[in-house]
Amino acid sequence: MLHTINPTTTAAWKALAAHAGEMKDAHLRDLFAKDHERFPKYTLQHEDILLDYSKNLVTDKTLELLQGLAAECKVKDGIEAMFTGDKINHTEDRSVLHTALRNFSGKPVLSDGKDVMPDVQRVLAQMKNFCEAIHSGAWKGYTGKPIKTIVNIGIGGSDLGPLMVTEALRPYWVKGMDAHFVSNVDGTHIAETLKVVNPEETLFLIASKTFTTQETMTNALSARDWFLSYAKDEAFVAKHFAALSTNAKAVAAFGIDTANMFEFWDWVGGRYSLWSAIGLSIALMVGYNNFESLLKGAHSTDNHFRHTHFAQNIPVVMALVGLWYTNFFGAQTEAILPYDQYMHRFSAYFQQGNMESNGKSMDRTGKKVTYATGPVIWGEPGTNGQHAFYQLIHQGTLLIPCDFIAPAISHNPLGDHHPKLLSNFFAQTEALMNGKTEAEVKAEGKTPDASLIPFKLFSGSRPTNSFLIKEITPYTLGQLIALYEHKIFVQGVIWNIFTFDQWGVELGKQLAGKILPELTGDEPVTAHDASTNGLINAYKKWRKA
Ligand code: F6P
Repeated sequence: MLHTINPTTTAAWKALAAHAGEMKDAHLRDLFAKDHERFPKYTLQHEDILLDYSKNLVTDKTLELLQGLAAECKVKDGIEAMFTGDKINHTEDRSVLHTALRNFSGKPVLSDGKDVMPDVQRVLAQMKNFCEAIHSGAWKGYTGKPIKTIVNIGIGGSDLGPLMVTEALRPYWVKGMDAHFVSNVDGTHIAETLKVVNPEETLFLIASKTFTTQETMTNALSARDWFLSYAKDEAFVAKHFAALSTNAKAVAAFGIDTANMFEFWDWVGGRYSLWSAIGLSIALMVGYNNFESLLKGAHSTDNHFRHTHFAQNIPVVMALVGLWYTNFFGAQTEAILPYDQYMHRFSAYFQQGNMESNGKSMDRTGKKVTYATGPVIWGEPGTNGQHAFYQLIHQGTLLIPCDFIAPAISHNPLGDHHPKLLSNFFAQTEALMNGKTEAEVKAEGKTPDASLIPFKLFSGSRPTNSFLIKEITPYTLGQLIALYEHKIFVQGVIWNIFTFDQWGVELGKQLAGKILPELTGDEPVTAHDASTNGLINAYKKWRKA
């Protein structure tokens, strides 16, 4: 079960607050000078993923106190509660079992007293067979041609995960297959996609847990209309549309044959669903075996997370180090910076993963928290970010803890591109840590005008984590994603919030539903506040002109 412990009442929190006072003036450069063992002490390796967290404002004492906080907040109980199917998504009365989707232990996993594994295995087998039928060409489109293009229509967790993984695993794409992802209700998104696909060879995957999401249903209907404008016969929809959903009724009502439905369950959260049938686009693009490797990688992280002592437990350490800055240094954001072009959607993916999960201000007793919870997550691939926003990270007034991620082996070992990329990866965390002193600027001899020296100083002591991964494969990517998922969960447990609901997205949806009918007709709208009325009426005027 999840306890309801206010973290600020723990002895560890109080000790951490006092300790933060001592650490605020510490410089990473000095911490390294004092302790030559920081690298071996503050690195963790799980199989082919190495986490170096030594360039953080932490000492043995910090880590001990943080471990104490995890113990006092009973994180261990939280982890067991999740893995064993407790309804830790309390406000929706659901278990949280994305770990069951990648459970290769052979052991049952119970939700509501029922083993979910037979259903999981059944759908995996269905996905496997479907992939085989598509890849072998046995599955034919309405004119007898094989399917070559996948268009995944979904949004949020039904888009970002499959999109991120499919992009990250581009080197594994099945030859001849191509994928598009449509999410935005802006007609531009689907219109531009439909311009470049061939209806005879395209399969639309309508990915929606609820099968009621406005954006997805609107795009799906437009895709269907477009398809029928070529195929002319509704009977052909079955060859070109499949549904990935928990809602069989709504799938049938939409007109998709439920034989073409890949099911998942309410204990799979949308932003944790790429491991489920929502991952069908991934499996179709990289092949079922690679999809299974992705799941196996995540399973290996799950075992590490569940069974490793907190001091060596990578997601727990990630969570504690992140929380140290959020709660004791006032850091409001965290950057995720993958030095891998294929991983260009990784930060966007965990923007949802993190911010929809821990962007909460009510604690588990329904009271307003008095401490910061989930940070803003953002980032872009290196080295593009270096030429865009790193200036602020190096010399700005905000503290921005950063995760740097890079593979040791590139899928494109072209000339010296990869050593150049990695030299930047290594250099950035070194620069952020050490900074540059006045003496160093002077010693360079490049600033004869002393009044310019202040502009060339770097304070340094800016914290980073470095993830060095042997190579981005389906397996290591699965491991990495699961590490971040569990980090989010551990932080949510300590912050005493419910990580797996997302009520905060409802109000905007409700109001949009009210406003939509008001947009028809020319009558001015008066039902809202002055600003909203004014904007709607300005739109109506311009639309007419
Ligand atoms: O943004 C809210 C949300 O419910 C996300 O959690 C989810 O990933 C997304 O909408 C899409 O929902 P669905 O898969 O039901 O269409």
